[in-house]
Amino acid sequence: MEEKDILILAIESSCDETAASVVKNGRCILSNVISSQIALHTLYGGVVPELASRKHIEKINQVIEAALLEAHVTLDDLDAVGVTYGPGLVGALLVGVAEAKAIAYAKKLPLVGVHHIEGHVSANYIEHPDLEPPFLCEIVSGGHTHLVIVKDYGEFEILGRTRDDAAGEAFDKVARAIGLGYPGGPKIDRLSREGNPSAIAFPRAHIEDGPYDFSFSGLKSAVLNYLNKCRMTGEPVVEADVAASFQQAVVDVLVDNAIRAAKDYGIERLAIAGGVASNQGLRTAMEEACKKEGIRFYRPSPVFCTDNAAMIGVAAYYEYRKGTRHGWDLNAVPNLRLGER
Ligand code: KG4
Ligand code: ZN
Repeated sequence: MEEKDILILAIESSCDETAASVVKNGRCILSNVISSQIALHTLYGGVVPELASRKHIEKINQVIEAALLEAHVTLDDLDAVGVTYGPGLVGALLVGVAEAKAIAYAKKLPLVGVHHIEGHVSANYIEHPDLEPPFLCEIVSGGHTHLVIVKDYGEFEILGRTRDDAAGEAFDKVARAIGLGYPGGPKIDRLSREGNPSAIAFPRAHIEDGPYDFSFSGLKSAVLNYLNKCRMTGEPVVEADVAASFQQAVVDVLVDNAIRAAKDYGIERLAIAGGVASNQGLRTAMEEACKKEGIRFYRPSPVFCTDNAAMIGVAAYYEYRKGTRHGWDLNAVPNLRLGER
């Protein structure tokens, strides 16, 4: 007998994207609707939490309606509602959590709270039907930089993490210093293609007592010092060279740590995830390094790297299958740790 399809409505509102998606049987994305707040926050050079919450409230119903319409389903067809409940901005998270609870309660559906980072990792399952745990995953986003072994769906062993700034945060801060504006990552990515990655020797931090840990604050300071020195001596700043040399320094560390961990632990499959995983320089460098070492490389399409609800739907499906259910007391947890429930 054929098994019944499992349809999950997923909601994501942890930062500056209001997103909803309908996911069938875990890996089939029936719709993926994202309303970005970039235009709003650009005015301020970064995400303003209070404005983000208000915008989520304004958009969330439209985004959910669009996701249902695009998937050709109604609330009556759903089997569960999945929602990001942390980590993220508390006011932003609350909008998604309240909405998910309301829909689940009204339609008598199970509610599945999802860890945002588990969502990012799960983005890899969408386009790689053969990918199953265990594998190594490097998660590089605006708030997180983690190197983990995905032992099973939703089960992680953390090998390394950032000691200070997240990789995406470094991109955003350096972009601001060069004068590129928010959001910095994609702008540095684009500008780097016109620059020389070996023009300026920026530092690559390797941490003595944490071989898989990261640190980006020294690199960020080195870029700021370089820019100040140029301004003081009247030396012209070639922005594309600064961008390319900075990006190369980040990419080198991200590739080195991931490849070293894969070799040390004898893991033959490596995935990347999170907003920075859409960086072209990182994708190319990681692919080449993996090829050289005989490691299989997985990465989501750029649209599934940056925040979206499809990845939350995939993670929610595997949590649902394991029996994870949240009550009506589910709350937003802004500093939810990986592996915590
Ligand atoms: O995963 P994400 O959308 O949100 C978080 O969970 O934080 O990641 C956003 C981060 C931002 O810091 C953004 O600048 C960075 O990802 N980012 C990039 C690129 N696209 C987004 N960084 C480098 N290159 C890109 N192409
Ligand atoms: Zn994210």
